[in-house]
Amino acid sequence: MDSIQIKNLTYRYPTSEADVLKDVSFTVKKGELCAIVGANGSGKTTLCNAIRGFVPKFYKGEISGDVLVNGRDVKEDPDGKNALEIGFVFQNPFTQISGIASTVYEELAYGLENMGVEPEEIRQRIERIMELTKIQEFRDRDPYQLSGGQQQRVALAAILVMDQDVLVIDEPTSQLDPQSTDDVFEIIKLMKSMGKTIVLVEHKMEQIAEYADQIIVLDGGQVVMEGTPKEVFSDPDCLKYHTRPPQSTRIALELKKEGVNLSEIPVTVEETVGMIRTAMEE
Ligand SMILES: Nc1ncnc2c1ncn2[C@@H]1O[C@H](COP(=O)(O)OP(=O)(O)OP(=O)(O)O)[C@@H](O)[C@H]1O
Ligand SMILES: [Mg+2]
Repeated sequence: MDSIQIKNLTYRYPTSEADVLKDVSFTVKKGELCAIVGANGSGKTTLCNAIRGFVPKFYKGEISGDVLVNGRDVKEDPDGKNALEIGFVFQNPFTQISGIASTVYEELAYGLENMGVEPEEIRQRIERIMELTKIQEFRDRDPYQLSGGQQQRVALAAILVMDQDVLVIDEPTSQLDPQSTDDVFEIIKLMKSMGKTIVLVEHKMEQIAEYADQIIVLDGGQVVMEGTPKEVFSDPDCLKYHTRPPQSTRIALELKKEGVNLSEIPVTVEETVGMIRTAMEE
């Protein structure tokens, strides 16, 4: 089943002279992770905003085509269902803290209280998610006094506790160190294991290779490549679109160019190790 269907989506902001998204079409199946990659300004954030209906609802502008989430047109949203079905995480964790809660616990409770969830259920949901995302130690801390990496984990936990099926995550690790990046990807892995459908904008190709089911490459607002990590990364065209394959893939492509016979092009470290082992046994 498709959770997200985008059909011939073309959009321009009120102030832009040209279309920022051009005839974009793709689908994301339920429970899959779709990575959106491409150069700065290629339209990734605009596309994320179209999936949650902010384009054109808040940004206005001219739009044509369809964005369906769970079969519903997000542009319409007369019953306010978008917020119940689509969770959103931004690049800068600081901007997504509510500013109302004085502790991390209250921060996680905030959205659920607004939805009118019963207090006992709120408590149970928060305890479970804090444990799964390993943020119990921050429970009584002021969200504004956490580091960027810690704030990003809280932001992801705050989305998970709302239990929406579709999550749109825009560059969650661009301000984080390698350890915090790994921590964020542990939570993304958890989200996948819970069956969430995820659209993730991310520049870290190693992590995309490991977690994405599908990659969409944008260039100038157009989908220029589309496929599994293996399909996209083993195609040298991806370099044209500021998409540099993981190191494992680059090494394999280089060896292939030198005439080394490789059974497959690896995209993850695990696959590379497997490939080298097989070669050593031969
Ligand atoms: N609010 C806005 N009004 C007018 N133009 C905008 C607005 N937001 C973005 N744009 C333009 O739309 C294009 C796509 O921007 P967008 O932010 O979607 O790119 P992006 O791929 O997310 O880039 P980055 O990697 O830098 O985050 C750019 O040319 C940008 O200047
Ligand atoms: Mg962006």
